[in-house]
Amino acid sequence: MTFTVFKVVAVFCGLFALARGQSTNVQRCLISRGGLPLNTHVHGCTTPPCLLPQLQDAVIDVIFEAPRTINNMTTLATATLNFIVEVTIPLDLQENSVTCNFLTNAACPIQQGENIRYRLNMFIESFFPVNTVATVEFRVRDNEVGDDIWCTRVPIRIQPPQSAAASDSIPALLTAE
Ligand SMILES: *[C@@H]1O[C@H](CO)[C@@H](O)[C@H](O)[C@H]1NC(C)=O
Repeated sequence: MTFTVFKVVAVFCGLFALARGQSTNVQRCLISRGGLPLNTHVHGCTTPPCLLPQLQDAVIDVIFEAPRTINNMTTLATATLNFIVEVTIPLDLQENSVTCNFLTNAACPIQQGENIRYRLNMFIESFFPVNTVATVEFRVRDNEVGDDIWCTRVPIRIQPPQSAAASDSIPALLTAE
């Protein structure tokens, strides 16, 4: 009996953790007509702009429901920057654009109604200067139908590479008490 109560409490704590920390406050896309996925989690970011350090992967976990059977998908990303005018440039995701290779709970073909978990890694190049502000749209295209299954829009800011300063803060946190 006590054990069951404990399990229920544990499950609720887990759900609250999910609700609080495992979700990023993203927006509906403006360029793509794809709707939002069920959940988007840019690691380390609850409230945008998401601060993305150069020279490492930004990690984005997405949960979406398959709208139909899908055999082949491509992940695409664009960044909109405000110079004197707004410019939108495609970001090259290279091999990370092969969506089917990065599903974490399923394999292609995915079936209609399945809740699919997907992890996108996007390397942040150093040619984006530190403090660059941009709005990124990530989307996944069904290659057979040619439309976007979902899309998520998130403001970002480029940060310097994470160095000793960042790893120092972990022992600092541990000794803070
Ligand atoms: C998926 O679609 C892409 C783009 O149309 C194509 O290049 C690729 O060969 C396809 N992959 C498979 C496994 O069908």
